[in-house]
Amino acid sequence: MDIQDIKNRFGIIGNSPLLNRAIDVARQVAPTDISVLITGESGSGKEVFSHIIHQLSARKHGPFIAVNCGAIPEGTIDSELFGHEKGSFTGAHEARKGYFEVVNGGTIFLDEVGELPLGTQARLLRVLESGEYIRVGSSKVQKTNVRVVAATNVDVYEAVKKGKFREDLYYRLNTVPLRIPPLRDRKEDIYLLFRKFIADFTDKYRSPNVQLTDDAQQLLVSYNWPGNVRQLKNIAEQIAVLEKERLITAQILRQYLPMDQGSSLPMRVEGSKEDFSERDILYKVLFDMKKDMVDLKKLVVELLQNGINANTINDNSPYLNQLYQDVNANRGESMIPATLTIHHNKDEKKEPSYDFVPHEEEVEESLSLIDRESDLIKKALKKYKGKRKLAAQELGISERTLYRKIKDLNLN
Ligand SMILES: Nc1ncnc2c1ncn2[C@@H]1O[C@H](COP(=O)(O)OP(=O)(O)OP(=O)(O)O)[C@@H](O)[C@H]1O
Ligand SMILES: [Mg+2]
Repeated sequence: MDIQDIKNRFGIIGNSPLLNRAIDVARQVAPTDISVLITGESGSGKEVFSHIIHQLSARKHGPFIAVNCGAIPEGTIDSELFGHEKGSFTGAHEARKGYFEVVNGGTIFLDEVGELPLGTQARLLRVLESGEYIRVGSSKVQKTNVRVVAATNVDVYEAVKKGKFREDLYYRLNTVPLRIPPLRDRKEDIYLLFRKFIADFTDKYRSPNVQLTDDAQQLLVSYNWPGNVRQLKNIAEQIAVLEKERLITAQILRQYLPMDQGSSLPMRVEGSKEDFSERDILYKVLFDMKKDMVDLKKLVVELLQNGINANTINDNSPYLNQLYQDVNANRGESMIPATLTIHHNKDEKKEPSYDFVPHEEEVEESLSLIDRESDLIKKALKKYKGKRKLAAQELGISERTLYRKIKDLNLN
């Protein structure tokens, strides 16, 4: 199969030398049973390449499983990968097969392999070297025949130097390195990809086609694309769905591109809301707090003037409405120094009544790190609608750490 056939078959767009080179490496390594370590920034296409390798191998009729090592809590990862025996730990009511057992004869894609704990790395090395593994809680050595394709968007060699990743495993996995270039290093592909995604999404959402002006095309190509192809795809989708204009100028396009992460052109845009420095962000936080204060004051005045009844809540007072929602969302937290109690009447026709009960003691701002932490985590999860990966990225911690904290802080 030549490179163009592979592109057609796997829906890969682009013709840059670096992309072609990566496809060529994948094509050559696929039919061997060699482990492959795919490196590349987030959203650059690592998972796509893992499928190419599996599909072009003799294992193509065998199973394929993608495992995100960063998303599995440290305490269960061995059991997920290698299985466990009944009663091997609290909650292990049944024996369970691990992925290495299930995928026997196929390929396992270990995404974010750099996140594996050291103990699991040792088990992985063993299965790579000899095909042997042991279920958690068992002493029986079992055999499996699994090809491992691993991926990482962090520099695993850095982790080796810091003692967080086993050097022997690194070399074992990295027999053939496959580097997926970031989108900004294959600029000639950017517009092609955009056209393809726009065509797909305008088709999917039955929206009219979209054209870019010359300056918009330039902006698209000069942008840094920190989230790579995935980000480009998301933006094409947003434009296909949300944008009223069908001829997209640079000015319109700019609104869709987060500029704080930088474009490779020096283009500080006057009045661009996105172009925040750290100080700007602090100002924004203060400004938002001030706005909250003003809203709160308005609310108090409103309450004093009108008293509280259901109508104020339902129609007239967005502030009260919001406050009511906030109180419900934050039950048990001292978010505001008063508790809004709602008494529902059994008789449905009567309006429910609302009491404000001021807390007896003055509530001081909590300076507890734990409170702050759980607050930030909740906010991040809310912002990304529960998507832990994105929330963890924003919080600057690994997905597993986030998972653990959610558990420790009882945030479920
Ligand atoms: N060359 C390409 N042509 C078309 N679509 C692509 C190309 N590269 C990537 N994509 C698409 O971009 C998206 C992101 O790709 P993928 O999930 O493989 O990235 P990734 O490197 O695994 O990202 P992450 O590190 O965040 O897991 C997918 O929807 C994929 O189909
Ligand atoms: Mg991926």
